[in-house]
Amino acid sequence: MSRKTVVCVVGTRPEAIKMAPVVLALRSQGYFNVKILATGQHSTMLDQALGHFKLTADVNLHIMKERQSLDHITSTVLTGAGEYYDIEKPAAVLVHGDTTTTFAAALAGFYRKIPVGHVEAGLRSNNMYLPYPEEMNRVLTDRITAWAFAPTDLAKENLLREGTPEDSILVTGNTVIDALYYTVKSTSKPLCPELERLPEDSPFLLVTAHRRESWGKPLEDICSALTMLLDAHPELWMVIPMHRNPSVRETMRKYLEDRKNVILCDPLDYPDFVWAMNASRFILSDSGGVQEEASAIKKPVLILRDVTERPEAVEKGSGVIVGVDKEMIYSNAIKLLENKDHLRQIENKCRFQPFGDGTASLKIAEALKDYFENDHK
Ligand code: UD1
Ligand code: UDP
Repeated sequence: MSRKTVVCVVGTRPEAIKMAPVVLALRSQGYFNVKILATGQHSTMLDQALGHFKLTADVNLHIMKERQSLDHITSTVLTGAGEYYDIEKPAAVLVHGDTTTTFAAALAGFYRKIPVGHVEAGLRSNNMYLPYPEEMNRVLTDRITAWAFAPTDLAKENLLREGTPEDSILVTGNTVIDALYYTVKSTSKPLCPELERLPEDSPFLLVTAHRRESWGKPLEDICSALTMLLDAHPELWMVIPMHRNPSVRETMRKYLEDRKNVILCDPLDYPDFVWAMNASRFILSDSGGVQEEASAIKKPVLILRDVTERPEAVEKGSGVIVGVDKEMIYSNAIKLLENKDHLRQIENKCRFQPFGDGTASLKIAEALKDYFENDHK
């Protein structure tokens, strides 16, 4: 009997990093024919992330355009994923997270009555525009999908509150921890030549920012706070791997290009980024994935957002929400830089691992196999 096909969809860097361990787990199980559908919502950043896991897409829709609109992503992914499902006739589709690829690829599955599994289901900020459009992407995806693979108990509670049937929810942990454990083994020193500029014993901060709702003034304020920190601490270095979005790059370059202690570079390969997270004094970021990773490696992260859909990172992890106000960012960062007790207090909060133990992908693969073995041969 031929094996059933499972299509795993990825569109952006974080989806690739967090779906890769699921693909690897499904493939090592040997039960399914596992295909990777890349929408190409991200071009180089997607390939870079998949490459680290030695994965290549079976098909790439290459939809990315410079400064693309949400309408463009939604419509091209909906049509392109639908056409691919019509060819492959998968028994199941897996999508990850909260991007527009996630939602549109799930919708294309629903239109064909193919059961869709949502990896990282149930995250909620409960504010439709923060983050934008991710909060709505998550809500809509969770309404469409047949299986909700929730990373935490809190995510499960969110789903139950919205009426998701309990027997369709499985708490697995977050697959980013699986990706991190896979990577940590290979991360003793960085390979990127730009990082060689870092003096060996100077403290450095790792900074990333890319969110749509921060484009413009909020990102200007974030950059301005960084320059204030550099002025206050001339010994301090910063590593800032810039997202490839031109709007983000223009602003970052305007404020930080001429600063000699700043390494303003292209996105780092995942192992180098993990190295930088570990080696930094602390992290400033508006990224979702980085909040989870920072908790796992016990590294304080100042969250450059007004709300988070990952409150576990703040309650049990190393996250502190500082928003996008430059004075707030500056004062919180100064406190971490100048008050060692405060730094230690935050590090000590990470005695629990709210985002899982590195076995999320195995749990997802097992659940899918069980479903087809027992219920739907
Ligand atoms: C997208 C997701 C966001 C996720 C982020 C991860 C949506 C609407 N947004 O945001 O949820 O947190 O990815 O990074 O789904 N670009 C390149 N090369 C690349 C990637 C991007 O040049 O490899 C540029 C292009 O000009 C592109 C722009 O970045 O138009 C924005 O990309 P897009 O995927 O629309 O938004 P992100 O901000 O990356
Ligand atoms: N990351 C990376 N290289 C970089 C910056 C980030 O590999 O230069 C990884 C990071 O470790 C995390 C993921 O990319 O796993 C987060 O991606 P991003 O911040 O773009 O998206 P989000 O998580 O906010 O959706």
